[in-house]
Amino acid sequence: MPLLSDQQVIQRIFTHIDEKTTDLADESWREAIENYRSQDRLNQEIELLRKLPVPFCPAAAIPETGSFLARSAAGTPLIVTRDEQGEVKAYRNACRHRGMQLAQGSGQTGVFVCPYHAWAYGLDGSLQHIPHDYGFPDLNKCEHSLVAVTAFERHGLVFVIQEESDNRGALDGLDDIPQLIGDDQKIFASEEFVSAVNWKLDMEANLEGYHIKPTHRESFYPYGFDNLNVVETFGQNSRVTFPFRRIEKLRDIPEQERNISGLVTYVYQLFPNVIIAVLSNHTSVSISEPLSPTETRFHNFKLNNKGEGAELSEKAKKDADFVTETGGKEDAAMVAGIQESLGSGANTHFSYGKFEKAIIHFHKNLHKGLANV
Ligand SMILES: [Fe+2]
Repeated sequence: MPLLSDQQVIQRIFTHIDEKTTDLADESWREAIENYRSQDRLNQEIELLRKLPVPFCPAAAIPETGSFLARSAAGTPLIVTRDEQGEVKAYRNACRHRGMQLAQGSGQTGVFVCPYHAWAYGLDGSLQHIPHDYGFPDLNKCEHSLVAVTAFERHGLVFVIQEESDNRGALDGLDDIPQLIGDDQKIFASEEFVSAVNWKLDMEANLEGYHIKPTHRESFYPYGFDNLNVVETFGQNSRVTFPFRRIEKLRDIPEQERNISGLVTYVYQLFPNVIIAVLSNHTSVSISEPLSPTETRFHNFKLNNKGEGAELSEKAKKDADFVTETGGKEDAAMVAGIQESLGSGANTHFSYGKFEKAIIHFHKNLHKGLANV
């Protein structure tokens, strides 16, 4: 099912305001605590991540020929780059000589040179140079290109698929919705850090508005509502809409002339580990990489979403700082608190109610995906 139009979302929000309601799931859900603590379960989740099409970074992170970004995805070091034709390519980040990683972080280059013995590879992955190559009389260079991984651009994101499977993951339903990140959007900040939390606990904090008043009493709640959301699913993905109180100013405007921009936050979960939040003046992309049951590496990117003027860029930074410094920290405190109590013995499972529809959708699809790993 495609997502509602902006006009439909606005109308549904007005109905919820008037009737003091919110979107509900058809069912509630129990998720075993063991699924947040077990190394076996985490291994299976990582295995699934290797089989799914998963966003690696915004396409804007590698804007030009030779731009590259190297990081581990589902435990596999990868390099994503753009070749001479402007096409996105991904390679396993390991020299074909003795396996040293060829690149770290991000940058721009015409050639990937191994820091160990200086074997050199082109942007197309071909092995171009072996120093003192008379030492390798039997080695066929053509058979020692970098090992490619499927990579492509969709919705302003670079997706990778490490191992082919018939699970289309985030791609299912993605064709039915508007472009998530426009070609003109630029990254103004990016960061990477490790948090001592299970990746799913953090994911869940993004997917419901039931906690807005108690958790974000002084930060988000004064601008928003208590437990008032539009919650939609598309394929294995979901979108949770968090309206601002200022949306009321659209009441008197004819439906077709209503512009939703700046009046809601759209939070998209691309199954299973990516959150894209479209805020008033910026869009954030957050990719979670599970490292262990209790550790997650986050790769966060922030992009302008209102053009590129200097003043607008300032607004985007202010927007981003506000979210990170206030609500972001409040959510992180909740997630850290849950992580600490996971082993308390109080719960054998968590209970998700009908307000937590997007979380239920996430767990259901995760169970389904893991059944086929
Ligand atoms: Fe929150």
